[in-house]
Amino acid sequence: MKMKFDFSDKIKKLPPYLFAEIDRTKQKLRNKGLDLIDLSIGDPDILAPKEVIKSLCNSAKLKENQKYALDQGKYELRREIKLWMKKRFGVDLLDENKEILPLIGSKEGLVHFPLAFANPSDYIIIPDPGYPGYLGAVILAGAKPYKLPLLEENNFLPDLSRIPLRVRKRAKIIYLNYPNNPTTAIAPKDFLEKAVKFCSKYGIILVYDNAYSEIYFKEKPLSILEIKGAKEVSIEFHSFSKTFCITGFRLGWACGNKELISGLLKVKTNIDSGVFLAVQEAGVAALRDCSYFPLQLRRIIRERRKLLIKILNSAGFNKIYSEATFYLWVKLPPQFPHSLKFCKYLLEEKNIVATPGIGFGKYGEGFVRFALTLDKKFFEKIDLTDK
Ligand SMILES: Cc1ncc(COP(=O)(O)O)c(C=O)c1O
Repeated sequence: MKMKFDFSDKIKKLPPYLFAEIDRTKQKLRNKGLDLIDLSIGDPDILAPKEVIKSLCNSAKLKENQKYALDQGKYELRREIKLWMKKRFGVDLLDENKEILPLIGSKEGLVHFPLAFANPSDYIIIPDPGYPGYLGAVILAGAKPYKLPLLEENNFLPDLSRIPLRVRKRAKIIYLNYPNNPTTAIAPKDFLEKAVKFCSKYGIILVYDNAYSEIYFKEKPLSILEIKGAKEVSIEFHSFSKTFCITGFRLGWACGNKELISGLLKVKTNIDSGVFLAVQEAGVAALRDCSYFPLQLRRIIRERRKLLIKILNSAGFNKIYSEATFYLWVKLPPQFPHSLKFCKYLLEEKNIVATPGIGFGKYGEGFVRFALTLDKKFFEKIDLTDK
């Protein structure tokens, strides 16, 4: 008998994949032998620090590292994270045994987190536009999303005062992400103070996604844990992926309130068996020996950013946001209001792949995201003028 498999209601609720048409066109053009300039993916092309590679290779050879990792992660890594948080943000309250948890990449923790604290009738507040993982997290936890617009006129910061009282009262979690993907915005201290006060007042857990904390150009991004009272309500997520250009290694961490950490650990204990120990050792090498690396990375991104902004400006794109992260968030001119259509045009006519803003939520419409994850020699091939 042929079985019929029906997806679960949760899976059916996951948003449709918006980029299927772009992906198909991309493949068609590649099959024709065309060289595309792919600026769509937030995956750096830069080689990881040599210390990190060396540590991974050496550690992988040892039998003790070939076994299951402990759920809580290696002590040495947690300790190194504690030192790094102190050095980088001045946050010295972290107990490495209870307030720090290594993750299989920050996405893994961000998406699993609501399983520990949200029930089906709860709201989870997420930014729009926002990293798509948050909506997936809400749906997989069976909770209800409430989308918080990040508008250009408000420097892409949410207006918390506009969240209706019925939502505040039934919200369990709010996700905030600064430096922000996709808008590139940084959150000033007074906004973070407001957010912590808001969460304390309504008993909402503040999940702060700081995956891009080391990719900035002027102002240094803050940790939510620098804010007074934050430790009572927050958990912060960090990633090695972008800072050390090791997206494929899968390594990140959560830190902050110990009850929130212990909830996440409970979920993880039932799902995974920890991060490969050799990858954890590579993480120790990254934090301990490679403080030079984010500096080099910023220099490279800064050069690319300058070049691409110049090219876009000369093609008439004048509203370009690039405060931090390795993206440009570019406002489309009035003749191109639809980001998906614009990206299709870019791909077919200019062989450039960019991400349509609508893919990050309805408030992302009218914008396009370019990732600065290709060498600048590729940018020199870009010609946006109409022939
Ligand atoms: C805002 C944001 N948070 C988290 C992640 C996940 O990063 P990772 O799981 O590689 O640590 C990404 C990846 O693109 C991101 O853009």
